[in-house]
Amino acid sequence: MPTPHELSAFLSDLMPRLGAIAKDGYENPGPVEWKERGQPVTAIDRRIETLAREAIHQAWPGHAIQGEEHGSTPGNAPTTWYIDPIDGTMNFARGLPFFSVSIGAWRHDRMIAGSVLDPLRNEHFHAAAGLGAHLNERPLQLKPGRVLRDANVSLQTSAGSRYLKTPGFMPALQRRVAKTRRMGSIALEMAYVAAGRMDLVVGGRSKPQDWWDIAGAWAVLEESGGAVLDLSGKNLSPDSSHLVAGEPGLAREFIDWFESHPA
Ligand code: IPD
Ligand code: CA
Ligand code: CA
Repeated sequence: MPTPHELSAFLSDLMPRLGAIAKDGYENPGPVEWKERGQPVTAIDRRIETLAREAIHQAWPGHAIQGEEHGSTPGNAPTTWYIDPIDGTMNFARGLPFFSVSIGAWRHDRMIAGSVLDPLRNEHFHAAAGLGAHLNERPLQLKPGRVLRDANVSLQTSAGSRYLKTPGFMPALQRRVAKTRRMGSIALEMAYVAAGRMDLVVGGRSKPQDWWDIAGAWAVLEESGGAVLDLSGKNLSPDSSHLVAGEPGLAREFIDWFESHPA
């Protein structure tokens, strides 16, 4: 069974090839198709995922793969790969320079390796369980001490989330924190938390069938000392439905605030 380090080394070899396709396609992405309302996809998304799946399958034929554009391939090993070929397709297709290629590998009960690549800035956020997180060569280590009042919070609400169903939550949050953001690539926003550029990502969807959105950054954030929790304060798991990701003390401050004074 490959070690987390081997999986991460594999990703470090693969990601630049995937990122080059995204970067080349950015100026001229071709027609946008709509999978459903609000869900754009381009031929570039599909091409990147196809290449990633072929590379994984060639290296480890028994590993399961779950990709956003080409679905699920079962495996016979305890490792599952989650692929988001372009996280932030809307930005990508409209010329907004904030999107990423994101891949994570899950084994047993955690993301053991992950990569998020911003091909326009040549920034590769990557991690292997037990070996730390890096932005390119630079180690990433979250510092404790930030409080909600001073936090820059990425808000990834979606229809049906408890945040949107809680009357007055949005204005209450805007009064409670320093700034809110939604930049269009949750993977990159979570990686930015690991790099200290943002403080917290609060999301309304985290079912395993959607884990390609967060898989790569999940490994990066945990290895930088961050916590990826659900609203009960436990580590995110297949049973979770909401996500709170950031420095552990800050994530818990958000959860306590939301559960006691949501509006
Ligand atoms: C989207 C991005 C975005 C999030 C949306 C996702 P996609 O992914 O992650 O940040 O807010 O909910 O659908 O469709 O561009 O891969
Ligand atoms: Ca996505
Ligand atoms: Ca995508």
